[in-house]
Amino acid sequence: MDNFRFYDLQPKISNFPDEVLAGLSKQQKQIPPKFFYDEYGSKIFDQICELEEYYPTRTEFGILQQHSSDIADEIGENSLIIEYGSGSSKKIGFLLDSLIKPLIYMPIDISRQHMLSASKTIADKYPNLKVLAVYADYTTEMLLPEYAISSVQKKVIFFPGTTIGNLEPEEAIQLLKRSATIVGSGGGMLIGFDMKKDPQILHAAYNDSKGVTAAFNMNLLTRINRELDADFNLNSFNHYALFNVKKGRIEMHLVSLEDQIISVADRKFKFIEGESIHTENSYKFSMEEIKKMSEECGFKLVKVWSDNNNYFSICYLSVV
Ligand code: AVJ
Repeated sequence: MDNFRFYDLQPKISNFPDEVLAGLSKQQKQIPPKFFYDEYGSKIFDQICELEEYYPTRTEFGILQQHSSDIADEIGENSLIIEYGSGSSKKIGFLLDSLIKPLIYMPIDISRQHMLSASKTIADKYPNLKVLAVYADYTTEMLLPEYAISSVQKKVIFFPGTTIGNLEPEEAIQLLKRSATIVGSGGGMLIGFDMKKDPQILHAAYNDSKGVTAAFNMNLLTRINRELDADFNLNSFNHYALFNVKKGRIEMHLVSLEDQIISVADRKFKFIEGESIHTENSYKFSMEEIKKMSEECGFKLVKVWSDNNNYFSICYLSVV
């Protein structure tokens, strides 16, 4: 395969034990959501995406499918498409099929194996496309491989899945600012946002009736028990997810049902009844917020594609 290349930017791999111990030592105990995705967690996440109540994945797919040629027109010919957190590269297919003469596809992910196999498949399927797979952490500063092919007319970053919602507002702004620098003047960003909506619909999406989201959240405890020799009793913690109206975000927690002391890697952590470990934030956005944030980062909000309910938006931002 001569249209495929792999670049190892040696991303700093996060240290699960250190981050868990530090998070459990905080006043409000917390564990970052990136740790949900061990092998089992990734499988449960795929099940979440199939749930009736969990509309984001399905809705974003629908928008991409329905508007792919319109989106392709916006991007234009001879593009370089960079994808953040490409994982199994399921969503890029719609785009690659509709784009006019795309030149380069550059997936970026910290899941090396996942990305390698998915991007090789893409290189096979699109022999005229150069696939430059980058093993890196897109939430940090990166020195991307030299892609100064003079025929590239536009660089566009594809960031689907409302993954930006996991970031704190200041972090999201930093990511957008770095992105504007990467694509440069005339470049763009195609990004998915989950919108603010009736809190009951949000609530249902994170408290599904089959308990799949609960299992996803609780799996963190199973993972800590297994990898850090801890003794969390899964019967003494509950999944809890709420929409925090003031902060505009869904919060997920694991709530202790009793006073208890848990050992984790030879350390002891005290929980009082009702105390929680904060495991995830998932920010929801309004169009005004998206516009304001984009402008603050050097972009102009050029075009928006949504579903009929305006539950989800795919936005095209262009560097001004
Ligand atoms: C992958 C961060 C977009 O926030 O909706 C799904 C993760 N958490 N159900 C989201 C998630 C609980 C998801 N993101």
